[in-house]
Amino acid sequence: MAKVIDFKLSKKLDHIAFIMDGNGRWAKLRGLPRHLGHKKACEKIRGIFECCDDLGIKVVSLYAFSTENWSRPQDEIDHLMDYLEEFLARELPAFISRGAKLLISGDLSRIRPKTRQACLDAVEKTKDGKGAILNICLNYGGRDEIVRAARKLARRVQEGGLEVEDIDEKMFASALWHDLPDVDLMIRTSGESRLSNYLLYQLAYAELLFTPTKWPDFDEDKLIECLKEYEGRNRRYGGLTNE
Ligand code: IPE
Ligand code: IPE
Ligand code: MG
Repeated sequence: MAKVIDFKLSKKLDHIAFIMDGNGRWAKLRGLPRHLGHKKACEKIRGIFECCDDLGIKVVSLYAFSTENWSRPQDEIDHLMDYLEEFLARELPAFISRGAKLLISGDLSRIRPKTRQACLDAVEKTKDGKGAILNICLNYGGRDEIVRAARKLARRVQEGGLEVEDIDEKMFASALWHDLPDVDLMIRTSGESRLSNYLLYQLAYAELLFTPTKWPDFDEDKLIECLKEYEGRNRRYGGLTNE
């Protein structure tokens, strides 16, 4: 059952994005192999997602595996894929009963067949969900996504179906992996203060929040602390104060 939260959001927050970082360091601090940090990390996702959903947040993006993460040892990559499959098998019924819809952003063709199939099945089983969206970024890179969108639109121009002058920011956004609302708040755990190629187009005006907590220690209470900080931010969008 989802944790009961005594907090209400007053600021617009349609899309929250997480960089779930610090799993390896969490494990190392406990004398455990790095992969057990990833296992623990996957166990934290459902509570965070349900809390966001209960607060009325429509889209939750998670950075699960970057285009740069292929440079890790194969053994770690294999464990990450194992845990993703376990996560989907374990959590899908609860996501479906909430009416949640699962999306994958990233090129699945490079993902091993078993994991790819588990992702495709989960997407198919939740495709009619009218509730919150869980957008899992897998083999995802922000630059890769932008280049692919540019190619997609260029192809349409080449085929004669689109005028160059008709390409605007909105159309470009619709050519990304999914046409999702702009990110309002991006939270990165583990103390690192960088984007690591995450949602570069969608983060243009997001509030960025970096917390030292490692993802396996991140929970609903820590999330609420972050949301309280977000509530205090003054989002000016280049204009003068609007609060
Ligand atoms: C994030 O945790 C998970 C992935 C990148 C897949 P890390 O594995 O990067 O953990 P640290 O940053 O090494 O502690
Ligand atoms: C970003 O974390 C990617 C994911 C959380 C999936 P990394 O740990 O891979 O990023 P860097 O290497 O610190 O930039
Ligand atoms: Mg890391």
